[in-house]
Amino acid sequence: MKALVLAGGKGTRLRPLTHTSAKQLVPVANKPVLFYGLEAIREAGITSVGVIVGDTAHEIREAVGDGSAFGLDITYIEQEAPLGLAHCVLIAREFLADDPFVMYLGDNFLIDGITGLVDAFDAADCDARILLTRVAEPQFYGVAELGPDGEIVALEEKPVNPRSDLAIVGVYTFSPAIHEAVRAIGPSARGELEITDAIKWLIDAGHRVQSHLVTGYWKDTGRLEDMLECNRIVLEAIEHDCRGTVDGLSEITGRVVIGPGAVVENSVIRGPAVIGADTKIDRSYIGPYTSIGDGCTVEEAEVEYSIVLGESAIRGVGGLSRSLIGRNVEVTKAAGVPNACQLMVGDHSKVQVRA
Ligand code: G1P
Repeated sequence: MKALVLAGGKGTRLRPLTHTSAKQLVPVANKPVLFYGLEAIREAGITSVGVIVGDTAHEIREAVGDGSAFGLDITYIEQEAPLGLAHCVLIAREFLADDPFVMYLGDNFLIDGITGLVDAFDAADCDARILLTRVAEPQFYGVAELGPDGEIVALEEKPVNPRSDLAIVGVYTFSPAIHEAVRAIGPSARGELEITDAIKWLIDAGHRVQSHLVTGYWKDTGRLEDMLECNRIVLEAIEHDCRGTVDGLSEITGRVVIGPGAVVENSVIRGPAVIGADTKIDRSYIGPYTSIGDGCTVEEAEVEYSIVLGESAIRGVGGLSRSLIGRNVEVTKAAGVPNACQLMVGDHSKVQVRA
């Protein structure tokens, strides 16, 4: 069994972060979301992994390398434009050869991993087994209709009037029969080769397509709220671990991970929270569900329910909440006029200030 991990795409909903980095590398509890997927693949006993990369190939290659850090053997496959999920299967034909494989969308997060799905696919006699989960707003996903024995009888991509609340989760297992399907379909209305159409083709051609319900938490991490929620879910399960230095004037409550070389002075940290390596927290309050990356400085500031990427500085600012702050960012107090806001923010940024 092989794995095909999709790490291309544009990540428009997470701009401006995705102007400079891949959406799959935005961290959840200080670890890129893609790494959770790679670990889940390894845990399922798969080592041969193809990674589809696009415009952000450089960042993905730099972060993942040859895969040895994950116990994986990685082959990169370049996709010249985001032409759809089924297009990824098409261009990975040589790498996949005639092996069964699991296809994993690199921005999807599954708390319970994929071992259950992979084992069930191995044991079953079918050409595809796809993950489904019940969602409140199925119109934003591929939606499945099941027959009496859990077989998928119909699929529709982002239907206006969904016929069920079962959304397709971005992890699929396929036999080599999928190669004929991806060659047979044409582009959808959005101009992409949809994997949903290829699976529909399998069903129509009489192949067995089974479903597998996700039991644990799942999220497609495309938007800010999704990232923050994922971060919260992962932080819920962390264990207290202090490898940095905390002075006697500081108060640490709840489960907090403090990275090596980090220094906490005269501050309050209420877990669950993660403080990255070599980060300095000084005269500040860090509230629950916050991840501060490596090499950051937080001084006389209050941050809660937020994700801060590495090398950023927050100084003299209270009440930062539900925020996603990129790498090498400075958030400081405006000098001069009281209550003034002074901003220099990149294209496609979103800033909400106190009214
Ligand atoms: C893709 C699939 C869709 C699935 C979703 C899960 O959508 O086409 O069927 O429900 O991933 O993340 P996209 O993210 O390409 O809009």
